[in-house]
Amino acid sequence: MEFFDMISPTALSLPANPLPILGILASLLAWLFLKSFTVKNSKIDSRKHKSEGNEPFVTPLPNAILDDPTVTPPKLYRPFRHGPNFITMGIRKLGWDNWIEMDSYFLRYHDMKAAELKKEFHEHVKYVDNEATRDACFELNEELVRYLTHRYPKVYRLEGVKVHNSLTSESFAFPAATPDEALATSALLVQDDLVIMVKNDDGEYHLDAAAVCLPGFWRLKEKFRMSLDTLHFEAGVPHYAAKLQKAMNKFFQKLTPDKPVERNNFFIQLDDGLHWSHRMGDQQGTEVASWATANSRGLAVDEIHFRSERQTLRRLPRSNAIVFTIRTYFEPVTKIAQEPHIPGRLGEAIRSWDDTVSFYKGKSHWDKILLPYLDEQDKLQKERGEIQSEEANFPY
Ligand code: HEM
Repeated sequence: MEFFDMISPTALSLPANPLPILGILASLLAWLFLKSFTVKNSKIDSRKHKSEGNEPFVTPLPNAILDDPTVTPPKLYRPFRHGPNFITMGIRKLGWDNWIEMDSYFLRYHDMKAAELKKEFHEHVKYVDNEATRDACFELNEELVRYLTHRYPKVYRLEGVKVHNSLTSESFAFPAATPDEALATSALLVQDDLVIMVKNDDGEYHLDAAAVCLPGFWRLKEKFRMSLDTLHFEAGVPHYAAKLQKAMNKFFQKLTPDKPVERNNFFIQLDDGLHWSHRMGDQQGTEVASWATANSRGLAVDEIHFRSERQTLRRLPRSNAIVFTIRTYFEPVTKIAQEPHIPGRLGEAIRSWDDTVSFYKGKSHWDKILLPYLDEQDKLQKERGEIQSEEANFPY
């Protein structure tokens, strides 16, 4: 009941000299007024504290690399171990400085992406046309521009409504006008492929937007709108149901914007196609590429490539979507086999796979060429005393 309901006019009957009573009443009213004011203010304060606790997360700015990042060669991610090698989630905490990596292959990746986009834009850029997904496309572009202009100021500059890339002399509208533009611009700004996973009404995360130009073995249209589970079941990921499904779904549900992660994997590829492995099938064809369609006839060791992805995952704070970046590191095996420890450790890792993993990695297509070569290089390294040096720590 409110104060003015309690002191209704009919409840008051005034005595002959009402002054003292009126004085008391006035003080009481003043006291109650002040009290109500203080309570109201303390409510605002407590609301303020609450909303401070719920303030939208703002991504921390990265430290700047002041030099040209494209003078640095690609990082030597060699994510295979001595002893047993299992397929695992293998996620590690990601520092904000390292969301997007750039190196001396930037222009090669950029030009390949630009050519793919020019050839068939909508094979590589897609989004589901609903509000949440459109917003996520814009948010990804905003986050990337904010990150890149601070991390690599020598390359990226924001001026008015344009973001400039000094390496390519490109200027992109910022903010982008459409989700397609936001995705394509983002793809051209970085070496990575970009995927946006959005929670659908079924409670699962689906691949609802992406800019994928360098996937190697799969086409965006084959995976578009698939749930996390379907993506991995369709790809035949070994032991997915038994070892990965539950943990991965839990991870997607629980991921918070302040806790980005990264992981690395590797594949053996039969050719030098960064954007598409032509020995796996025709890029323009309709058949899903897999080891079942692979052509390894007459394969020579110098055609074989080591393909390793560095993937990051983070939740976007505004749209709540999850961004999955896929950065491919790609070298001939004959090149990486010159690095100390690598031929020995790679051969050991490959031999440790069980049948399911071996099938998934297409081992029967290349093992008779690759393994003897790795053994020979390992022997040479031992003879030359090259593996006395310390091995780096995982992921190497
Ligand atoms: C926590 C997140 C994730 C984990 C732990 C994970 C795990 C895996 C694993 C273990 C594989 C087998 C090869 C490898 O070791 O990478 C794989 C393959 C694959 N994943 Fe994921 N994944 C994750 C997120 C995603 C997302 C968001 C997508 C959306 C595009 C995706 C798409 C694929 C595809 C297409 C393959 C097959 C690749 C190929 O064989 O060419 N994954 N994933």
